Amino acid sequence: MSDFAEIILDGKTYQMPIVVGTEDEKAIDISALRAQSGYVTLDPGYKNTGATTSAITFLDGEEGILRYRGYPIEQLAEKSSFIEVAYLLIYGHLPSEEELNAFSDRIKRHTLVNEDMRKILDGFPSTAHPMGILSALVSSLTAFYPESLNPNQSKEEVDLSIIRLLAKISTIAAWSYKNSQGHPVIYPKNKLDYCSNFLNMMFAYPTEDYQIDPVVVSALNKLLILHADHEQNCSTSTVRLVGSANASLYSSVSAGISALWGPLHGGANQAVIEMLEEIKADGGDSKKFIEKAKDKNDPFRLMGFGHRVYKNFDPRAKIIKKAADEVLTALGVKDPILNIAKELEEAALNDPYFVERKLYPNVDFYSGIIYRAIGIPTNMFTVMFALGRLPGWIAQWKELREQKEPIGRPRQIYTGETERDYVPMEKR
Ligand code: ACO
Repeated sequence: MSDFAEIILDGKTYQMPIVVGTEDEKAIDISALRAQSGYVTLDPGYKNTGATTSAITFLDGEEGILRYRGYPIEQLAEKSSFIEVAYLLIYGHLPSEEELNAFSDRIKRHTLVNEDMRKILDGFPSTAHPMGILSALVSSLTAFYPESLNPNQSKEEVDLSIIRLLAKISTIAAWSYKNSQGHPVIYPKNKLDYCSNFLNMMFAYPTEDYQIDPVVVSALNKLLILHADHEQNCSTSTVRLVGSANASLYSSVSAGISALWGPLHGGANQAVIEMLEEIKADGGDSKKFIEKAKDKNDPFRLMGFGHRVYKNFDPRAKIIKKAADEVLTALGVKDPILNIAKELEEAALNDPYFVERKLYPNVDFYSGIIYRAIGIPTNMFTVMFALGRLPGWIAQWKELREQKEPIGRPRQIYTGETERDYVPMEKR
């Protein structure tokens, strides 16, 4: 294999270095191309552009492989806990028992949020979407911890910001839900593990305890692990781009939350359930909706199908599909929309339109069904995704800083008017 690629422009040859990753992924480093030739590369949606080198997550969309720090997602989902995976992503290795206990204890000690944050929460109408509240309150952490704004924080100070964010996001997330219900918030209980504590803050009342079910805790752990990182997706790229301006961890993650909210990204899990409900209300004819999705004059898309990088299968969807069956059986939940989901999946997988375009169910297709089964309301689904994705965002933000990456600043090809003179109002 050669060490460089040759690009011929206007009869002149330019040599650009080839970069090879540990999984033999190859890239042409064109960073010097413009300075040497005046040309930039154009790639809307960054479909073929590597924005960084990263040692956190490897995925191979063709083969359906996903690994965090080298460990297959299947093994982590089966054997690990969410907090252990968070440690792995952020610090790069599986923690020893002592490291894990220390990490988990530190997170527990920071779960309370400043009481003044409740005043901000109180200012939101109960109609506010919990994702908007989550993004705003995470950003507001900069006001309570202004030292986090200092781009020259020491390693220990950065670490404290990371612990605070991991600890407080579940409190903020649960409280955003309580706010949308007009119910009093429930304070964190530090004797509980991460997932149990979150569930308790979501479902307990001052007047009534919440019975923590190990089936539910285990399902939640699995879902959060499956969402914990996914290399340079839309929200993670947002976190890195914002972070590249030396913005604080809280500001960068808040921006990532906003990106995740979009229905083409994390918002898809909510959109899937809404779509399945719509099909059910319409009489349950999944074939009719398959036809709608194929009709180019109809804006309807099959939510939870297709993925920018997985063009074979989404390994997370495989794990989640099995988990959905297990959880529903264990909890004795009979959800009619699960049947519609299965019919839809089968019909789509046998339809040439979907087969030719390699459109398979993605992680969001089944995650909503599990969330519903464990009592999470639909408008909280994307918040659950954000809870899961947080360790990935943190790890990517930390890596960006440690690699001392330059500020992100894409180029463009201008297609507007060339220079023209201002026209006075009376002559227009
Ligand atoms: N339903 C029907 N047709 C689809 C769908 C779908 N869900 N997804 C893609 N297509 C079609 C497109 O119309 C296009 O057809 P064409 O070639 O005839 O024009 C072709 O498949 C390729 O689609 P693109 O939109 O070019 O693929 P892209 O990689 O840009 O988009 C995306 C990927 C956004 C995920 C898309 O598949 C989609 O909108 N899916 C539904 C939303 C969803 O589930 N998002 C969650 C993604 S996973 C995540 O973020 C965690």
